[in-house]
Amino acid sequence: MEKEELIEGIARLRKEKDALILAHYYQTGDIQDIADYVGDSLALARKAAQTDARIIVMCGVHFMGETAKILCYDRKVLVPDMNAGCSLADSCPTDSFKTFVEAHPGYKVLSYVNTTAAVKALTDVVVTSGNAIQIVESFPKEEKIIFGPDKNLGNYINAVTGRSMLLWDGACHVHAQFSIEGIVNLKKQYPQALVLVHPECKAPVIALADIVGSTAKLIKEAEKSEAKEFIVATEWGILHELTKRCPNKTFIPAPPDDNQTCGCSECNFMKLNTIEKVYNCLLNETPEIQVDKEIAEKAIVPIRRMLEISK
Ligand code: 13P
Ligand code: SF4
Repeated sequence: MEKEELIEGIARLRKEKDALILAHYYQTGDIQDIADYVGDSLALARKAAQTDARIIVMCGVHFMGETAKILCYDRKVLVPDMNAGCSLADSCPTDSFKTFVEAHPGYKVLSYVNTTAAVKALTDVVVTSGNAIQIVESFPKEEKIIFGPDKNLGNYINAVTGRSMLLWDGACHVHAQFSIEGIVNLKKQYPQALVLVHPECKAPVIALADIVGSTAKLIKEAEKSEAKEFIVATEWGILHELTKRCPNKTFIPAPPDDNQTCGCSECNFMKLNTIEKVYNCLLNETPEIQVDKEIAEKAIVPIRRMLEISK
């Protein structure tokens, strides 16, 4: 099928089947363009919590689909490619995390949304990069906190809030690989450029940032800024929304360490979804996200707490 036919088909099926299409900023531009709503992890969870659509198509990765399913347990949640996982979520296996939590009684457990439903079920409050600082600061200074799984985000929150949360040793393979030298060289080439950095990056990359934040925050700040050039240290899919909202500004992707090809950083999981797979998943109502009921009942508690604290 030609792309135009797929897009027409998606529009028709979405109506016929009462489906809501949500997309993350790391999806390809064509998927972002057909979505009902595009956002960061926090906004996608909020949209899922609010909708009464019969079907939610989550154009993102598996944990995003699981979060939507937990929030709308009676609905069908589809992810165009079920293999769209997340290296950060994978860096936190449930059994080892459970052992870690049990070894630290008296600690509150905060988990980044990039985790499996089973890890969320072991958590007191879920956070995203959009609300992590606010949620950590909602706890008294002396509260003992475990933060998992992203040690880079955890280190960043510790630095900003002056806390010393105990960190799980996980990371995202995309954000952990930005080249410090590459960014410094781009700064020499574009001395006026502001550096936008996602907090999943390592501390030396964050140290080069003018703005640190979730994908939604980076877009908002670029839009507000007087600057005309920006070096962007996050997944390249975000450039679609950045250039759409700021057509007169220049966005330069920061290179990864193994800068051999396009010079962009790509999340191979996010890019498993294609417009054709979106069409097929709406047509066949599969692949569908399944979450064990008992786990979903536990995991919804820290997700709701997150939405409540950061509303
Ligand atoms: P955001 O919540 O900032 O969109 O980030 C999600 C993510 O997976 C970053 O790698
Ligand atoms: Fe996970 Fe990293 Fe991909 Fe985000 S960019 S979905 S953290 S693997």
